[in-house]
Amino acid sequence: MNHLEKTDIKDKKVGLRVDLNVPIENGEILSHERLSAALPTILHILKQTEKLCVITHLGRPREGEFDINQSVLPIKKWFEKRLNMNIELLNNFENIPDNICFMENIRFFIGEKDNDKNLSQQIANVFDVYVMDAFATAHRTAASTFGAIELSKNACAGLLFSDEIKNLESALEENKQILSVVGGSKVSTKLEVIKNLITKSSSVVVGGGIANTFLKAAGKPIGNSLVEDNMLDTAKELLTTNKIILPKNVYVAESPQSNQVKLVSVEDVPKNKMILDIELNEEIMSFDHEYIIWNGPLGIFEIDQFSNGTKQLIDFLENSKSKVIAGGGETLFAINKFSDINKFHYVSTAGGAFLEYLSGNRLPSIEALRLK
Ligand code: 3PG
Ligand code: MG
Repeated sequence: MNHLEKTDIKDKKVGLRVDLNVPIENGEILSHERLSAALPTILHILKQTEKLCVITHLGRPREGEFDINQSVLPIKKWFEKRLNMNIELLNNFENIPDNICFMENIRFFIGEKDNDKNLSQQIANVFDVYVMDAFATAHRTAASTFGAIELSKNACAGLLFSDEIKNLESALEENKQILSVVGGSKVSTKLEVIKNLITKSSSVVVGGGIANTFLKAAGKPIGNSLVEDNMLDTAKELLTTNKIILPKNVYVAESPQSNQVKLVSVEDVPKNKMILDIELNEEIMSFDHEYIIWNGPLGIFEIDQFSNGTKQLIDFLENSKSKVIAGGGETLFAINKFSDINKFHYVSTAGGAFLEYLSGNRLPSIEALRLK
């Protein structure tokens, strides 16, 4: 794989695919991590050439239609301020100027989603070098994340992309001592992640709704908790590895809206109550691992009284000597709410792509870059 740091881009025309897919409400950007994470690559390129065209997607618009609510305009403005530069906003690849510009939401373009050859070729042809830095979109086989890389004369990974794979690769290398923590609401959406992490980790701590299904599979009473009954057999099978760590104590209430919250043993969950949060088992804190991989909150952390498990985990991770690798949309949200990403060894900018990577699946953009 070619990396930007070692690629000659002096005075070259560069196309840069980034993932600036951030929540925007009424023109206001609600989360800036992905924008800040894209800056080092942009600055690196601008030191060597002015001919930079920044390409991103935003949301999931209908192809072939312009939708002002999904325009990249607010993002372009953010970069104009940060870089103290005027940036032109383009809506086609026909006349790319010789100075910094932004391309409109690439998902407005017909053929992006289906990796259309025409669009891929068009993107590949207009640039001397195509830099892929959108790690958070590396799991999509789209024209700008796959075809354009394949067809470019010269394509490389951007600084963020290289950093993401370096960190994830080193954590998941053979023979590492890994503790994994998987939360979130459903076993079904995390099944591949859990299956793959179990083979690489000494233990997998489960929390969130996922823990309910494992607790039921282990024969514990779970009252009215949300549970995936169709996952019980799979959960039982995973429990036979003896690597799944179930919570010992949980927070229960009649509903997420209830103020009557009780901490009980998993042996004593009342019939009319739901498990909405967990208490982190103390033994976990004494484990000595080189890496801890974390994805998914351990309770309904958006509601204060059910945020204990997630907060305890974050507190433990911040102070742990292990290298902590965290990722996922909700995980990042929880870290921002209760802590600071700089306190962690590595926090991925990716959601879906992070999960795909943890599942052991090949990511199309990585594969395309490897062939260059
Ligand atoms: C993300 O936010 O997970 C990425 O930008 C990918 O977006 P998508 O799920 O709409 O492809
Ligand atoms: Mg997503």
